[in-house]
Amino acid sequence: MGYQARFRVWRGSAEGGELRDFTAEVNEGEVVLDILHRLQATQCPDLAVRWNCKAGKCGSCSAEVNGRPKLLCMTRMSTFAEDETITVTPMRTFPVLKDLVCDVSYNYVKAREVPAFQPPADLGPGEYRMQQVDVARSQEFRKCIECFLCQDTCHVIRDHEPNKESFSGPRFLMRVAELEMHPLDTAEDRAEQARGDHGLGQCNITRCCTEVCPEHIQITDNALIPLKERVADRRYDPLRWLFRR
Ligand code: SF4
Ligand code: SF4
Ligand code: FES
Repeated sequence: MGYQARFRVWRGSAEGGELRDFTAEVNEGEVVLDILHRLQATQCPDLAVRWNCKAGKCGSCSAEVNGRPKLLCMTRMSTFAEDETITVTPMRTFPVLKDLVCDVSYNYVKAREVPAFQPPADLGPGEYRMQQVDVARSQEFRKCIECFLCQDTCHVIRDHEPNKESFSGPRFLMRVAELEMHPLDTAEDRAEQARGDHGLGQCNITRCCTEVCPEHIQITDNALIPLKERVADRRYDPLRWLFRR
């Protein structure tokens, strides 16, 4: 049985905007993205919302629902009470382009700052050999759909715009961790790059990024903490310090 639900949707651009109230029909099995499409079809045809797969796999439809970072296509209407007002706003950490669509180019800038995987020069394609445990470790990180919800929720950049210069955010620290732990990567000290170039020290392991990841990647426990341990081992281990001296 369908019902009418109340929505507050942020509408505006980089210059400013406001929350607008709507009432829309909700049917069994629908997700928040379905309702936004209904609003486009019936009440506001110029409402901007980014989406692609409607299956939780393309990472396009990231926004905030009742203040929480979510994929709009994976947020079921059945998780809200029928008399609840549902507020949909763009991701707060990135500049708004229009309505629910943000400019996420910060993330692509940070992605380019991570040097690519460097296999040993004497190995050709098809000659890579790895333990299954190492394959499994990389595979967890490679489930990332680049929705940037972890970046959106991380307080280091969410509330402090100037930190974007020095901090790459959980998604890209995880990429550095993946390469640092890769047994065939020959790049110079990735852990030191994480500390110096990507601002690993600003992460205080609050685990908020892990909580919002739609792929349930253990970003903090399996990437950020091991990376911090490697930095500490290399920089502060007294034997290594003596050796460096
Ligand atoms: S654990 Fe670190 S990277 Fe993740 S949200 Fe907290 S401060 Fe940000
Ligand atoms: S790590 Fe998770 S939350 Fe972050 S971009 Fe990838 S899929 Fe999204
Ligand atoms: S539309 Fe692809 S993840 Fe939501």
